[in-house]
Amino acid sequence: SLPTTFNGQVQIGVLGGSGFYKLEGLETVAEVNPETPWGFPSSPITIAKTPAGTHVAFLARHGLAHTILPSEVPARANIAALKHLGVGAILAFSAVGSLQEEIAPEDFVLPTQIIDRTRLGRPNTFFGEGMVAHAMFADPFSANLASILEKCSHVLEESGKKLHTTKTQKGDLTLICMEGPQFSTRAESHMYRSWGAHVINMSVLPEAKLAREAEIAYQMICMATDYDCWRVDEEGVTVEAVMAHVRNNTANAGRLLKAALEEFEKDASVIEKLGQELEGSMKFACITPQH
Ligand code: ADE
Repeated sequence: SLPTTFNGQVQIGVLGGSGFYKLEGLETVAEVNPETPWGFPSSPITIAKTPAGTHVAFLARHGLAHTILPSEVPARANIAALKHLGVGAILAFSAVGSLQEEIAPEDFVLPTQIIDRTRLGRPNTFFGEGMVAHAMFADPFSANLASILEKCSHVLEESGKKLHTTKTQKGDLTLICMEGPQFSTRAESHMYRSWGAHVINMSVLPEAKLAREAEIAYQMICMATDYDCWRVDEEGVTVEAVMAHVRNNTANAGRLLKAALEEFEKDASVIEKLGQELEGSMKFACITPQH
């Protein structure tokens, strides 16, 4: 059985979404389940090692048996647990609906912007109770992480899928985060399109905000499963339709992750720089004077 503690430093965190419950092809070195001040993470965290020696921590956002609703994900515990392991960069995978014709099911998207349509007041900060801080969040994702992933687009192209990025799009790619768990109505779907949004999910928030507060570089990798319900000839999205694409998406996610890790490892300073990208950024976000 695996060690249940890990004393080294983990460089990269991976959050798996629907259908993505474990890391394939890497040597597992530990499985930890730390209790944080915000409770336990969604699942035990598997720590794996690449052949070149990078440590990667994998966490299944909805639990190993998909038992956690998007509104119920213990995001603070997840981010705190990854921070505690030393993670400086998170690659967060998520199934999404496509709001644009050119983003086909099984294409991947690296979003650059988020519109918050969550409504249940998901706990979204590590601050409060006497400590006030306002993190900068104008650009919620890490351009450095995105540029590493962009270099791996061939992995998707080999199986006839696209990786949509600011370069292919020539502009921002906007992700709507809705509350769920029900999918959108057609009127909502049309409204999101009128806002210029590209993809929709239920999971990027508050995860991305908490990663920012924890000074962890964060990039979501959206894996399209459906066209939501905006298209005239579309029946409307169902779990069945989503799941039909999840298996292929998960296989491609594994390939993309492998290529990205190799890309990171081409230059040891890349991972180090990622880890330092946001270092100290919260220092000037605290508005409560030291006392
Ligand atoms: N996840 C996958 N497809 C989705 C959709 N159409 N809306 C919201 N979340 C999704």
